[in-house]
Amino acid sequence: MTVASSPERGAAGSAGAAGAAGSAGTALVTGAARGIGAAVTRRLVGRGFHVVAVDSCAGEDTDAGYPLATRADLDAVAAAHPGAVTPVVADARDVAAMRTVAERIDTERGDLTVVVAGAAIIGGGDALWDTDDAVLDAIWRSDAVTVWNTAKTMVPLLLRQEAARRPAFVAITSGAGEHGLYHLSAYCMVKHAVVGLVRGLAADVVGQHLTVAGVSPGSTDTQMLQATARLYHLDGIERLVQEQAIGRVLEPDEVAAVVEFAALAGPVVHGSILSASGGFRS
Ligand SMILES: NC(=O)c1ccc[n+]([C@@H]2O[C@H](COP(=O)([O-])OP(=O)(O)OC[C@H]3O[C@@H](n4cnc5c(N)ncnc54)[C@H](O)[C@@H]3O)[C@@H](O)[C@H]2O)c1
Repeated sequence: MTVASSPERGAAGSAGAAGAAGSAGTALVTGAARGIGAAVTRRLVGRGFHVVAVDSCAGEDTDAGYPLATRADLDAVAAAHPGAVTPVVADARDVAAMRTVAERIDTERGDLTVVVAGAAIIGGGDALWDTDDAVLDAIWRSDAVTVWNTAKTMVPLLLRQEAARRPAFVAITSGAGEHGLYHLSAYCMVKHAVVGLVRGLAADVVGQHLTVAGVSPGSTDTQMLQATARLYHLDGIERLVQEQAIGRVLEPDEVAAVVEFAALAGPVVHGSILSASGGFRS
């Protein structure tokens, strides 16, 4: 990881104020190479954060059953924001790798203020009793253990941040963390666990000026939704919005706007799961 020189500490307490790159502090986003994570990165840079953009960049070398992002994807996100994004290839399933990222942020930047845990995969396509245990294991490690490792390694840094900066930890959950979705039982189970992680962590930090929240997207136009359509043997993603009250797929930036809000709103959202779903019919 190549890390730029430490940013000046921007206007404390002005969470959300736009400013020079890094003036709002450092943010870490996992799953940042594409989709919702890339959109969150864009928004946080726009708010004056220097973003450490983490992605496994596993490409085809994955147990997800579809290609994950590539190094080229991550580099493109960084290139779009010269000097404001540090791309880091790290697998959030690996706590040692995440600890190394945390140590480098601590020594080279020292002002971690916002963390967004977005890395995940989708899997399934069969009834629970026909689902291979390997699918559950892969989703558990990629969608729950990743958030756990991100919290375990980054929250101690957030807790050292000045209260006036209003540090925040935001996990991206899913409508599958609140509803049962057909033939996605492993993903539903694991995303419910991520909601539990958010609530447990929120309880652990009570009184310590760290805001912990989740954001629960509906069907959003990303590679993950394309993969979901393939699990259902659908040609496109359009039929995946039957449950979505607004009747269309969301854009990643619409979801990123809610993540940005959750990260900057302060204690009022503590312990909450904010919906970014466009409404759920059932
Ligand atoms: N797209 C949707 O419809 C939708 C709906 C609800 C929730 N979500 C959630 O939103 C988040 C972002 O999903 P997306 O739709 O942008 O998917 P995506 O596949 O476009 O992006 C996910 C990113 O995470 C990265 N990643 C996966 N495993 C990783 C790991 N172990 N370590 C580091 N990086 C890893 C991938 O390389 C990829 O860049 C996920 O938590 C997902 O569950 C998405």
